[in-house]
Amino acid sequence: MKFKPFATSLLATALTLTISCVHAASVAPAAAENGMVVTAQHLATHVGVDVLKSGGNAVDAAVAVGYALAVVYPAAGNLGGGGFMTIQLADGRKTFLDFREKAPLAATANMYLDKDGNVVPDLSSKGHLAVGVPGTVSGMELALSKYGTRKRAEVIAPAIKLAEQGFTLEQGDVDLLGTATDQFKADAKDLGTIFLDKGQPLKVGDTLVQKDLAKTLKEISGKGSDGFYKGWVAKAIVDSSQAGKGIITQADLDRYQTRELAPIECDYRGYHVVSAPPPSSGGVVICEIMNILEGYPMQELGYHSAQGLHYQIEAMRHAYVDRNSYLGDPDFVKNPIGHLLDRDYAAKLRAAIEPQKAGISQNIKPGVAPHEGNNTTHYSIVDKWGNAVSVTYTLNDWFGAGVMASSTGVILNDEMDDFTSKVGVPNMYGLIQGEANAIAPGKSPLSSMSPTIVTKDGKTVMVVGTPGGSRIITATLLTMLNVIDYGMNIQEAVDAPRFHQQWMPEATNLETFAVSPDTRKILESWGHTFAGPQDANHLAAILVGAPSLGGEPVGKNRFYGANDPRRNTGLSLGY
Ligand code: DON
Repeated sequence: MKFKPFATSLLATALTLTISCVHAASVAPAAAENGMVVTAQHLATHVGVDVLKSGGNAVDAAVAVGYALAVVYPAAGNLGGGGFMTIQLADGRKTFLDFREKAPLAATANMYLDKDGNVVPDLSSKGHLAVGVPGTVSGMELALSKYGTRKRAEVIAPAIKLAEQGFTLEQGDVDLLGTATDQFKADAKDLGTIFLDKGQPLKVGDTLVQKDLAKTLKEISGKGSDGFYKGWVAKAIVDSSQAGKGIITQADLDRYQTRELAPIECDYRGYHVVSAPPPSSGGVVICEIMNILEGYPMQELGYHSAQGLHYQIEAMRHAYVDRNSYLGDPDFVKNPIGHLLDRDYAAKLRAAIEPQKAGISQNIKPGVAPHEGNNTTHYSIVDKWGNAVSVTYTLNDWFGAGVMASSTGVILNDEMDDFTSKVGVPNMYGLIQGEANAIAPGKSPLSSMSPTIVTKDGKTVMVVGTPGGSRIITATLLTMLNVIDYGMNIQEAVDAPRFHQQWMPEATNLETFAVSPDTRKILESWGHTFAGPQDANHLAAILVGAPSLGGEPVGKNRFYGANDPRRNTGLSLGY
């Protein structure tokens, strides 16, 4: 009698072991034959999948999702913000659309300083003076007209329906809205009318209807960019700005244009990385770190070994110095990209990294050799042809500057906070930045957003990106390293605990369980200091071919999606 349970338990153990060999620490990624969409809000994911099912390509789906997230994920999805889209087409062409916000023409380098030259708290992050000229509508329209196949009205229709008829709030939606109850109360006339119910927070099961936003979406659906940058929507943006002591004028809206730029590219252990160029720092920093790491036997050192972590942390520390010191809007500063991505430079940085001694951030600075003198959303889509789109767009903070363009339903960004308000003073992400990122009229603030695509022999193998301010770069990077260096499947790579080092402050942030106590002790004995976890990222990633690189496909499935479990609104889904 006693033997049977024992045998059963042996069998159970054997089964568990077999299963755990397939998926070490995570549920299996979502798998599908014909395409995959991963976004931070489940209804937006369905919008994207529906477009793919009806024969649209990944760009059509990306534009439909972009508009839908503005409705169902209003904390970060947006019309009043900006972002980036990295595109890798099945025919091998690749491009990057920069629809980042720009400083208004009346902006000045010292606009957030008081008369004594001190930064005025919140001026660059709350209210109309924090608002950059929005780029999202221009970006979506350019993407669709140049790389999409569907009519504008068709891809905007789901967003209009969700705004007009409303959608039922689930726990994740309510959690997100709950982060901004005070902002909604402070703006009772606009935000408060939409996102509060008689002054109180909305609840699970309530329907969120956004009639004004539906009107604005219809105007865009009929007129394209002109429906946003001209006419009554534009007038509402300008009037609200002026009434709220902002500086956006019609001339700012008239001159807004999406830039099409060459992506940043580099190779890492046989894989080709296609990522965001300035005005994002993302691609440059990711590639700089990868160039440094490629010289170390990372796989052999092992996942989160003390030595492996040390090299990763130090590579991050060095690359963030360069980010904060040299990078800015390419129309305004000369970004030394060739130098930063030179393999000889990576070798010099490796030589400056001692194998068992943490670098001291204060001593690693521009001018000292070898260095010369919370809220966004990301989505990833691949279609059946192999076209891939990676989009990160944002209002900066959750719900941006906490203000709207009256009667349009459009929430406005606080992207101006990404500029250097004053050299040496940290912004909301603790980034201490330099002159290259000073405010100037028409200039875009430096970003960390890193929508990235990894290819092999010209074909997409991975699409990846995340929100998270300055932590975007490291979270995107670590997910790629988890897949390439450690053989994790895409869900394991997304789930794995992360760490973050950004030069200043000195300490490396650790997610819970990122480092074992004895590994931490070793690293501390080498001079490393650590701090606790920061706000969670929400990564959205897709792997093409198999759940892991070089792995076997599951049945006929070609696409494997991973939604980040750190937040409770997203969904990966294919068909
Ligand atoms: O462009 C940037 O780097 C920031 N404005 C992104 C903000 C962000 O990711 C906040 N999310 N948690």
